[in-house]
Amino acid sequence: MGASVLLGITGGIAAYKAPLLVRLMVKAGMNVHVVMTRAATEFVTPMTLATLSGNSVSLDMWGERDHPAVKHISLADATRIAVVAPATANFIGKLANGIADDMLTTTLMAYNKPTIICPSMNVNMYQNPILQANLQKLNLFGYQMMIPDSGELACGWTGEGRMPEPEAIFREVERRLGPRDLDGLRVLVTAGPTEEPLDPVRFLTNRSSGRMGVAIAKRALARGADVTLISGPLKVATPHGVNHIPVRTALEMMEKVLERFHESDLVVKAAAVADFRPEIVHEEKIKKEELGATINLVRNPDILATLGSRKWPDQILVGFAAETSNAIQNARIKLKNKNVDILVLNDVSKTGAGFDCETNIVRLMFRSGDEEQLSLMSKEDVADKILSRALDLRRRVNH
Ligand code: CTP
Repeated sequence: MGASVLLGITGGIAAYKAPLLVRLMVKAGMNVHVVMTRAATEFVTPMTLATLSGNSVSLDMWGERDHPAVKHISLADATRIAVVAPATANFIGKLANGIADDMLTTTLMAYNKPTIICPSMNVNMYQNPILQANLQKLNLFGYQMMIPDSGELACGWTGEGRMPEPEAIFREVERRLGPRDLDGLRVLVTAGPTEEPLDPVRFLTNRSSGRMGVAIAKRALARGADVTLISGPLKVATPHGVNHIPVRTALEMMEKVLERFHESDLVVKAAAVADFRPEIVHEEKIKKEELGATINLVRNPDILATLGSRKWPDQILVGFAAETSNAIQNARIKLKNKNVDILVLNDVSKTGAGFDCETNIVRLMFRSGDEEQLSLMSKEDVADKILSRALDLRRRVNH
């Protein structure tokens, strides 16, 4: 039997396509557990879904004969991914606002694994700013949205809002389930900026949001790794299931990273560590008259270079380089000087790359001298490439 999937169906007309999705998943060997809202049963019958999935369909919290109170927890524990198709505006509103008043929303409240939401509704409902704000909020919390198709809608309108075809949803579920090829591997990721305080209210920092590092942590987790994420202040939510150690300064990050380095198989240093910190950290807020025109800075230790000098041959070390000019030449020097196995070169001057955006354009540079230029892609896809290459290297050194 393949992976277990939780399929939530809510009360929209596109629910009539849910049985086709179940068929595709079952044919691919997945074990599908369906949870329907009451409204969904107006569009498609639980009997159809129970027959196609081969499992009983959950409808409400109180109707279950076996362990009614914990069914939502066992469903959450027993499955590896959840997909809600179709997801109505009402359901999205509830999920985004922590309302758990039926079996589906209660189960998802207890869910800490990847969840795909497939909005499906009339174009005006879809474009409603309240709905859009709810989607953004869910996105921020790590839920994955499938963008609805455009076209003729059941209500007679034409526009965005049509549920993607079952085939497309199925492919997305398959992609998200992915291989469990990092099973048993301990992955240490650093992410985000560091903050270097000058006094209790002022600090030096940089534009890093932490998206790239969080994407690596997320994908490593999805591929079966045991993931520790050590990060400065992040602008994005940390994925459930990752062991998150928040830090503030470069020195704190160094300490935490060194504590865990010896027990890590793969280390990805995506953090934008501040190279300098104020020489003196004042305990009280400094008055501007006392501050003067110059602040003395001292160098922070280079965490990546420290790891490079201490690593075992079978530990794979991945570093990042953010460059704006002479990118490739500078990155080749960093690769050597910091003794890393893979250097991910980020030309942050390109549009669609670098800080605070969802996509990235990177070049992977290997110790062997090989280089691989990747095209513009989502940070999660970049993360998958990095992890696959790191895994290849690890397999090579272990044979
Ligand atoms: N890095 C680190 N500790 C530092 C500075 C950087 O571990 N004190 C790591 C980052 O996590 C990243 C890599 O080094 O993986 C490259 O960071 P980058 O800022 O591009 O390069 P630097 O080595 O700091 O060089 P420069 O700022 O001169 O370009």
